[in-house]
Amino acid sequence: MIAAAGSGQRLGAGGPKAFVDVAGRPLLEWSVRALRAAGSIGGVIVAVPEGFEGQLGEGVTAVTGGPSRAESVRLAMAAVDTELVVVHDAARPLLTAALVDRVVGRLSGSGAAGVIAAAPVADTLKLAGEGERIAETVDRRGLWAAQTPQAFRCDALRAAQGEAAAAGYLDQATDEAWLIERSGGEVLLEAPEQPNLKVTTAADVSVAAALLAAG
Ligand code: CTP
Ligand code: MG
Repeated sequence: MIAAAGSGQRLGAGGPKAFVDVAGRPLLEWSVRALRAAGSIGGVIVAVPEGFEGQLGEGVTAVTGGPSRAESVRLAMAAVDTELVVVHDAARPLLTAALVDRVVGRLSGSGAAGVIAAAPVADTLKLAGEGERIAETVDRRGLWAAQTPQAFRCDALRAAQGEAAAAGYLDQATDEAWLIERSGGEVLLEAPEQPNLKVTTAADVSVAAALLAAG
């Protein structure tokens, strides 16, 4: 499943980010191709902004997204009828079929509720105080930056989403792993072997386009 229903405010392209051209294709199309090339994937469901349901190619199921990323994913879960699901952000176009198969393979061979792509933090981390002054340096040992793809057992994800919606914290979730954590489930970290950058700003589009064009 691909979360592609955002408006792309920070990119400011005048339309939804998922449909912005990156290296000759809509941003979303790169992720669709990677998922389709993955042996572990049986079908692709995409949460799109209202009015964009007809803009997807053949063989892809469109679902109208919601007001938050977590709500879009929850709405798209209604179209999922498998035991496992992979949730991916359209904003990460460098997705590879190998990475998808790796998170799914590790999930099926484990007792965990989920496996997510994530990278150990390499930068020195500063906690900001008032006026953008450094309050302290945060120890980065053990810290990972969460990415997508994120693979889950559907029953665990649905239960975690239901709990979050009932308790009113669903919209605070910036990824599905956090929902599983909150419901007490175990989630494993899987470091990608290749860059898996997130497109947020116009500068990110340039970097992603260069990497995609270089193949
Ligand atoms: N997303 C979604 N539904 C929403 C909001 C976001 O499916 N209501 C998706 C986006 O399309 C994106 C992913 O979640 O693929 C990560 O979100 P983000 O990078 O923040 O994208 P946007 O919300 O579109 O960008 P911005 O926050 O700058 O508006
Ligand atoms: Mg957003």
